[in-house]
Amino acid sequence: MSNGRGDPGPPARETDLKSALDEHRQWVEAELSRVLPEENVWPENLHRAMRYSLFAGGKRIRPLLVIAASEAVGGSREDTRPLACAVEMIHTYSLIHDDLPAMDDDDLRRGKPTCHRVFGEAMAILAGDALLTHAFQVLAEPPQGWDGVRLERLLRATGELAVACGSEALIGGQVADLEAEGRGVGAAGLERIHRSKTGALLEACVRGGAILGGAAEPQLESVTRYGQSIGLAFQVVDDILDETEASEQLGKTAGKDRTAGKATYVSVHGLEQARATAARLLGEALAAIRSLGQRGWLLEGLARLIVERHG
Ligand code: IPE
Ligand code: IPE
Ligand code: MG
Ligand code: MG
Ligand code: MG
Repeated sequence: MSNGRGDPGPPARETDLKSALDEHRQWVEAELSRVLPEENVWPENLHRAMRYSLFAGGKRIRPLLVIAASEAVGGSREDTRPLACAVEMIHTYSLIHDDLPAMDDDDLRRGKPTCHRVFGEAMAILAGDALLTHAFQVLAEPPQGWDGVRLERLLRATGELAVACGSEALIGGQVADLEAEGRGVGAAGLERIHRSKTGALLEACVRGGAILGGAAEPQLESVTRYGQSIGLAFQVVDDILDETEASEQLGKTAGKDRTAGKATYVSVHGLEQARATAARLLGEALAAIRSLGQRGWLLEGLARLIVERHG
């Protein structure tokens, strides 16, 4: 495989993938820090809480997917600048709220005490609100010099992102997740929860990246099928890890789903079936992007990482 930027070269080794992702991750960290108000900006406590959760050490899978999808269709990282930041801010807001006492009531996130444990519940709610709002501010302030074509693509990606984190997707999924707690939910209901609360945002990341990268319609269709498969796989694996890994490894409280009576792929289908589903979805994701050729190498690497991860 090539390095994704030129002619096909030698097979991409694991180290190539790791260093490419590390480099993109550093860029994302720097961009996030640049667009977020500093801690000494009024109101200091709010900005401290926002930065505390945003820079607590997430894997940055969503911005990496945005970048990888843009490159997979012949675009560049530069094309993704506002969207790559926005998706991570939205994801982090969703985690802050997910951890609140009224929701999953968690004490540990990204290896640190949760936002509300450090800053109090009211500040955590507001820090989440502010991260969500700031994401759309960043999207409305694209880099100087972007022409009409780029702005039109950004508007389309922004619209899709809003839908993905809205009442019929991420938030709707969180509602259904809470409503299913302690009650039975069928296989179809469970799949819907997972595709909504987690899958929709991941799909919006890759579709958005591809749109910003100037994807042709068949490319966008491939990326969409990839996004749907890894979107569901991501939450299936999250359910598996909650059951099989230790808190130190996860950076969040292990075994929480079982004690809370959550509807998960493990509780509904069992561990072995959940693992088989994740493997099947990985296969489907990889098949979906085969037509993109060498330039899809980062998407391929991220799909494997999502399914084979331990935290
Ligand atoms: C955790 O997401 C929440 C889910 C949607 C399952 P991640 O596993 O991507 O969490 P971070 O961003 O690395 O902390
Ligand atoms: C979280 O799902 C989904 C969103 C935050 C939208 P989980 O509740 O399973 O995530 P973790 O396990 O707390 O990270
Ligand atoms: Mg939850
Ligand atoms: Mg949770
Ligand atoms: Mg979970």
